[in-house]
Amino acid sequence: MRTLADQVVIVTGASSGIGEAAARRLARGGARLVISARRAEPLAALARELDPAGARVRAIAGDITDAAVRERLVGEALGNFGRIDALVNNAGYGTRGPVELVPVDLIRRNFETNLFSLIALTQLVVPHLRERGAGRIVNIGSVAGRIARPLSSVYDSTKHALEAITDGLRGELAPFGIQVVLIRPGFILTGFTDAANEVSAPVIENAGPYAPFVEDFRTAYRRAHRIAGHPDDIARLVEKALTGRRPAPRYAGPGHAKFLLFIKWLLPARAIDRIVRLRKH
Ligand SMILES: NC(=O)c1ccc[n+]([C@@H]2O[C@H](COP(=O)([O-])OP(=O)(O)OC[C@H]3O[C@@H](n4cnc5c(N)ncnc54)[C@H](OP(=O)(O)O)[C@@H]3O)[C@@H](O)[C@H]2O)c1
Repeated sequence: MRTLADQVVIVTGASSGIGEAAARRLARGGARLVISARRAEPLAALARELDPAGARVRAIAGDITDAAVRERLVGEALGNFGRIDALVNNAGYGTRGPVELVPVDLIRRNFETNLFSLIALTQLVVPHLRERGAGRIVNIGSVAGRIARPLSSVYDSTKHALEAITDGLRGELAPFGIQVVLIRPGFILTGFTDAANEVSAPVIENAGPYAPFVEDFRTAYRRAHRIAGHPDDIARLVEKALTGRRPAPRYAGPGHAKFLLFIKWLLPARAIDRIVRLRKH
């Protein structure tokens, strides 16, 4: 078992939700962190709270789709702490709406944040890990990376693609002593739903013939609050991925996420389609 003590970890998307919970947990374990997100205020507040002296937690505010921001993250870790031990690729958001109606620009933006920026940041970090012959990359995927749903398949496809990249990277980096882990959260109560609703508002408020289905989707989400997990359920898995001697290729949580993945593995596509389908009005 490795410990977190003194590991230097970059965590993206740490201004709320899973990334924030991961930053808290990793800092508590003694890791030194570079945390990032667009919202400067909550990010700086978290850094102050975790490390009032400002020596062990550094906050870099900015959009992960901006190459200069990604370079600053890596520069901050190397400049302040002299090395990088791990990268937690967590920043991401969802876009809702029927494929027919979501403007391709919105789809591109979602891929830009959830996938291309994650790949680009990983490309910046890998040479440093490779040089030292050690390190971990933890990608926050989703159950939606295995099960795509009507009205959510734009986001779901970003996470499907992330599954493939993560599996490929795992094989490519293993010879260099770098471990790559995918975490598949189920439904977790975070800022995710509000962010998705905000980004998707122009589409879902003008959903035309899909409007009743959009309403059903919202209702289903509200109902799912009963089974929703807490961000720390996932932060715990991030800690496990960073400290386990031989981390598993993939983790899922909480319990309902494991159940859904089991169902996906077990049932034929037609049965899965029946579960996620839009109900007639
Ligand atoms: N909540 C769930 O049910 C769930 C389920 C499966 C997977 N996930 C995944 O978990 C990850 C974290 O989401 P969450 O649930 O914790 O939601 P959240 O509370 O909305 O957190 C998302 C984080 O990503 C950051 N972010 C989003 N776009 C960004 C950008 N362009 N540049 C920099 N940072 C950006 C946000 O910060 P700023 O807004 O300040 O930039 C925020 O810190 C995401 O990858 C999400 O897809 C969530």
